[in-house]
Amino acid sequence: MTGYRTPARLFHWIVALLVLATIPAGQIMIQDGLSRSVQNALFIFHKNVGVVILLVVLARLAYRQVVPPPPLPLSVPEWQRRVAGLTHAALYGLLIFMAVTGYLRVRAGGFPIEALDALGLPTFVPRSEALEAWAKAAHWWGRIALVAVIALHVAAAAWHGLVRRDGVMARIWPPVAR
Ligand code: HEM
Ligand code: HEM
Repeated sequence: MTGYRTPARLFHWIVALLVLATIPAGQIMIQDGLSRSVQNALFIFHKNVGVVILLVVLARLAYRQVVPPPPLPLSVPEWQRRVAGLTHAALYGLLIFMAVTGYLRVRAGGFPIEALDALGLPTFVPRSEALEAWAKAAHWWGRIALVAVIALHVAAAAWHGLVRRDGVMARIWPPVAR
């Protein structure tokens, strides 16, 4: 059975690693009692890696248009194919939503995004307290949805890989196709 090709696998694992680091960084950096230097480092990491995630996700979606995912094994029933498709669409959508609301929240608040500023890119968003407050709330709620969908996705992957052993995990792991 064939799996995803190497570029799709690398996209998947790069995004997975970055997202699984960005979520706890975001969560920790807003806690009280952190030293200023740790908090600053986490903010810089979180904001700039968030932008990288957006770029990699967009590149991955473009690649997916050119090289569509391989068909699932015939043993996977129709309803599970539908749930998998919806889950993957939700993951892509939520990652874009998180990156865009994060960007809006920071820019509307007048804060830096160090890598973009170093490249001399302009801010596309006016200063606005209302937009900042909206984007902050959207980012907060979005992460709850994202964490829930990731949990479902990882549970399904573990079930395929450890219980069913039906080859679904081998479609994306290892990161380089054999
Ligand atoms: C330990 C963590 C993870 C495991 C074991 C895992 C496993 C898998 C597997 C087995 C597939 C292939 C499903 C299929 O063949 O239809 C897949 C696809 C996918 N995964 Fe993950 N994943 C993990 C983490 C993540 C994370 C953190 C994200 C994003 C937040 C993510 C996003 C996706 C997406 C969007 C697809 C669909 C790929 C496509 O068809 O375009 N995964 N994952
Ligand atoms: C896919 C990418 C991203 C994920 C998964 C993510 C996730 C999170 C999480 C879990 C939190 C902590 C809870 C919260 O207050 O919402 C957070 C907070 C935050 N994120 Fe993100 N984020 C992403 C992208 C970005 C980007 C691109 C920026 C800015 C350029 C950003 C800026 C912020 C800021 C400023 C906070 C603190 C919110 C506050 O003031 O309470 N994030 N993020």
